[in-house]
Amino acid sequence: MSRKLNVAIVGATGVVGSIMRRLLADERDKWGEIRLVASPRSAGKVLTVGDEEITVQAIGPDVFDGVDIAHFDLPDEVSAEWVPIAAAAGAVVIDKSAYFRMDPEVPLVCREANPEAASERPKGIIANANCTTLALIPTLAALDKAFGLVSMSVASYQAASGSGKEGLEALYAQIDKTASVERIGTEPDDVRAVLGTEYDSPFGAPLALNVVPKVGGWRDGGWTSEELKVRNESRKILGLPDLKVASTCVRVPVAVGHSQAVHATFSSEVTVAEAHRVLAEAEGVDLVDDPDNMVFPMPIDSVGKPGTQVGRVRQSIDFPNSLEFFVVGDNLMKGAALNSIETAELIRLELEAKQ
Ligand SMILES: NC(=O)c1ccc[n+]([C@@H]2O[C@H](COP(=O)([O-])OP(=O)(O)OC[C@H]3O[C@@H](n4cnc5c(N)ncnc54)[C@H](OP(=O)(O)O)[C@@H]3O)[C@@H](O)[C@H]2O)c1
Repeated sequence: MSRKLNVAIVGATGVVGSIMRRLLADERDKWGEIRLVASPRSAGKVLTVGDEEITVQAIGPDVFDGVDIAHFDLPDEVSAEWVPIAAAAGAVVIDKSAYFRMDPEVPLVCREANPEAASERPKGIIANANCTTLALIPTLAALDKAFGLVSMSVASYQAASGSGKEGLEALYAQIDKTASVERIGTEPDDVRAVLGTEYDSPFGAPLALNVVPKVGGWRDGGWTSEELKVRNESRKILGLPDLKVASTCVRVPVAVGHSQAVHATFSSEVTVAEAHRVLAEAEGVDLVDDPDNMVFPMPIDSVGKPGTQVGRVRQSIDFPNSLEFFVVGDNLMKGAALNSIETAELIRLELEAKQ
């Protein structure tokens, strides 16, 4: 029998890291040692993977010794420093930060679209796309294969946990502060008055009782980094370098689950019935589309679900080759941890076959 591969979760104390621990517990028998790594602040903490208690190690060059697959769940700048060190130590790195995603020598892998790309990794690094893009890809890949995707316009409604544990805690704190104020949100500036103008939040504006049309940092032309990621990462994963994409990314006061309203155009006319047939059979997609019975995708129903949900499929009235639909995916599952686990499975099968 072949040796079981050793795995590290680097960033095990974060919101994505905590889902990684849960998913690895579900497939514990597949793997050898599981190593948990975080910043020196967390060194010595004891976390669980299923019923196994594991002491968190501070990141350092030695923590990668003997690790076959390293799941990286760190901020961009920390991944930039440590991913090459882990890869040089011999681990296949699956990195969830944005840092390596557009590197031509780093494949950006989503099982439903381009699983074959995982085996071409000259730097020993594979990137996981951002959570907004990953929520879209299973649906887009299936529709593209059937009808030829030409362009898409996307508006997102993104959860606070997309900003990590700091984002989730900030939303809960703002909800706590505002919930007991009678009729808050009905008078000029009353939400800002309760939350204060100088409060600390990764969103840059109040999120409770509000939506914030800025996700990520500002880029040239008034775009945000998230909006450009949706365009560039979708093109790379789908292998459609000329795909026309417009996107507006918005943060909403939801804990978990990124939603997106999509207008997608195909190379020929597509009916709702044809789209339903394709989506009902698509891997990684749950077709949730029975509006008469109030059945459609919503973030509260997406939490913890492996599939991304798609519904409200309509043929565009004024655009014969276009469909409108609504997609929701758990940003911590398919948007992060689950996709990484699925890529690791591709690597596990490849490496174990070589032993
Ligand atoms: N949240 C999402 O929906 C989502 C989706 C897709 C991709 N991602 C990406 O996944 C990564 C992790 O995101 P997250 O949401 O889990 O963030 P998070 O909740 O803030 O967790 C960050 C993790 O990084 C560790 N860390 C921070 N600074 C470090 C340092 N200098 N050295 C070593 N470890 C350090 C933290 O350890 P301590 O606890 O010890 O500080 C923690 O384990 C990010 O690149 C993010 O962009 C996130």
